[in-house]
Amino acid sequence: MTNIQSLVTQMTLEEKAALCTGASAWTTTPVERLDIPELLVSDGPHGIRRVPDVQSMTIHSMPATCFPTASSLAATWDVELLREMGRALGQEALALNVGVVLGPGANMKRSPLCGRNFEYFSEDPFLAGEMAVGLIEGIQSQGVGTSLKHFAANNQECERFSINAVVDERTLREIYLPAFEKAVTKARPWTVMCAYNRLNGRYGSENHWLLNDVLKGEWGFEGFVVSDWGAVHNRVAALKAGLDLEMPGPKPTRVNAVVEAVRNGDLDEAILDEAVGRILAIVCRAAQTPKGGTFDAATHHALARRIAGESMVLLKNNGLLPLQAPQHIAVIGRAAVEAHFQGGGSSHINPTQVDVPFEELRKLAGDAEWRYAAGYPDDDSRDQALIDEAVATAQTADVALLYIALPAFKESEGYDRPDMGLTAQQIALIQAVTAAQPNTVVILNNGAPVAMSEWLDGAAAVLEAWMMGQAGGGAIADILFGRVNPSGKLAETYPLRLVDTPAYLNFPGENGDVRYGEGLFIGYRYYDTKQVPVQFPFGYGLSYTTFAYDHVRVSADNFQDVDGVTVTVDVTNTGARAGKEIVQVYVHDRAARLIRPMKELKGFAKVALEPGETKTVDIPLDFRAFAYYDPAYHQWITEDGAFDILVGASSADIRGQATVTLTCTLELPSLLHDESTIRAWFADPAGRPILKPIFDELMKKGGVFADNGANEPVDMSLLSFLMDLPLRSFFHFQEGYLTQPPDDITNMLLEQVHGLGSRKPALARTM
Ligand code: BGC
Repeated sequence: MTNIQSLVTQMTLEEKAALCTGASAWTTTPVERLDIPELLVSDGPHGIRRVPDVQSMTIHSMPATCFPTASSLAATWDVELLREMGRALGQEALALNVGVVLGPGANMKRSPLCGRNFEYFSEDPFLAGEMAVGLIEGIQSQGVGTSLKHFAANNQECERFSINAVVDERTLREIYLPAFEKAVTKARPWTVMCAYNRLNGRYGSENHWLLNDVLKGEWGFEGFVVSDWGAVHNRVAALKAGLDLEMPGPKPTRVNAVVEAVRNGDLDEAILDEAVGRILAIVCRAAQTPKGGTFDAATHHALARRIAGESMVLLKNNGLLPLQAPQHIAVIGRAAVEAHFQGGGSSHINPTQVDVPFEELRKLAGDAEWRYAAGYPDDDSRDQALIDEAVATAQTADVALLYIALPAFKESEGYDRPDMGLTAQQIALIQAVTAAQPNTVVILNNGAPVAMSEWLDGAAAVLEAWMMGQAGGGAIADILFGRVNPSGKLAETYPLRLVDTPAYLNFPGENGDVRYGEGLFIGYRYYDTKQVPVQFPFGYGLSYTTFAYDHVRVSADNFQDVDGVTVTVDVTNTGARAGKEIVQVYVHDRAARLIRPMKELKGFAKVALEPGETKTVDIPLDFRAFAYYDPAYHQWITEDGAFDILVGASSADIRGQATVTLTCTLELPSLLHDESTIRAWFADPAGRPILKPIFDELMKKGGVFADNGANEPVDMSLLSFLMDLPLRSFFHFQEGYLTQPPDDITNMLLEQVHGLGSRKPALARTM
């Protein structure tokens, strides 16, 4: 018996029930009698929000480094950098006596309107999963746990506590679950946090399929599942579904409900014991890491600046950037003096220090002459005087730097964005300043795409600086003055208009349900497949240098799905500055039985290159890179055939490609049944040889085939009619020509086809 099991057996029913509910807003229940300590958890995800009084749900917390938020982190496409940030977060957690950090969030960006998108990585599950892995591995390398959240389909703030996400099985498996799956199976987070919302009718806290079958069963998750704060509705139902720890506490009524349910036989004590064992294992693990001490705030601030510099995306540049020692600089916009570096809600960090963007500019270009104008108010009002002042300031300068932050009332946890626009004042300001000063750089602080078509043409350059963390002000200055060559690329598409977005007709839902009607087609999967023009595509970002891609090649032209294949490309820095390029690999399936997106990201690498330098980049593609989830089989499948491997600088800028041929090694049962059409029987490799001779014979008897031995139809429309009949109906139509009852023949064919065992999945729809 392990120590944990023996501890469980020593605990009373009351103690076990109490352990499954928090003792305070941020701690688990200790059991002093058995030396079981409390576990202290804190938000998460891009800094440690350690609330001094664990009984309090207040937002005020002890100072900690505020790193850039997840939108920003994903735009680095740098897993190693996230690991480094994770290590820093782990160190801060230890210093603040925190055992588990509540994050990262691996939810998908289904709509740009989700108010909390700034806390999520991407619209692409592959990229989001890689980022989550980096962060989790980094934090947990310090002996501190993580809580991967919010599991699952928590993709909007509107009615977030109750909304029912209606999502089909394939879409869940291919879009909304893979980032969680990768993070759980590769990085093994200590805990997973369930979502508030319902998924296909069941609350995240009571979803047996999600928590027990998929997470703990299929993915082998060994940690504990914690509720999002207040996500439990029925404590006993939640325990049965696999929800181990309810937070926050204290909640004596919940503890009593569990005790009572065990006593009256409604809850099997073994279920409680399993939850207790899972919680104890993590409590004990966390207790092994000594806490306390300090962290190196200056080093972490410098790291936050480096990460911010790697994440910013240069969206437009007519050559004005990097700035060439301008003498008269107009700095416009409140965000230049009040850095907008994080979002509102539970992730709000009390920073150790904040880089003021304007001051950081001055440090790098000290002898220039500076003038400042606020440009816009801090509310939604219009103020023409501020615009006039900004225009006057810009007109007399060599260059105008326009700092525009999307205000918190337009983007935060707790509510969705009403639209994709900046405020009316900000739009008017950009239009007026760019009209007066052609050398205008727009610097954006926001956590999700904003619409730009009303003002983009006028700007000489646009830098997406995100919610950039406490050191982001310095990172902006680094990029504007060329100390850092921008290398971030978009982890989400920037659409032209809200009406173009895939979830537009189904967001945020009605009557308590939100139907994920766009299915697999979110983000670039939609824009690409539907050929909808966008402002900036997924994976896009400019640099101060240029890169050439040469000799795209593959390790094998023909390969078996289980072996995968490696793509190789030579990347050269063809410009005059050192820089970093993010090489992206997309896979396009030439033919599939089910609809697939035009292409999907399946690999990437960030590579640093000196001017003139070439590096060879290898990107492995595994089984999953070619597979899709077939809900008919309830599993990931591959199909024989050709795939194009597209190597690009963005989803819309493919620089080279190769074609490979996959051989499927799967053995799958035939899905044929008595209601499958004749066409489906013929498309099935097991069904066709069994049915074909009988079919041909009947066609001849019935005069549908010419009597010349060639099995050629004389009547195409009749043949087509027959092909669409379910098997059983077909035989009933043919009863006059049959020697046995139609049902007997149908059953005989079914026995034969299923007696054959497993075959490869069918691909072609042939007769
Ligand atoms: C949020 C979680 C957070 C928790 C604790 C909830 O409202 O959804 O992400 O970790 O509060 O602050």
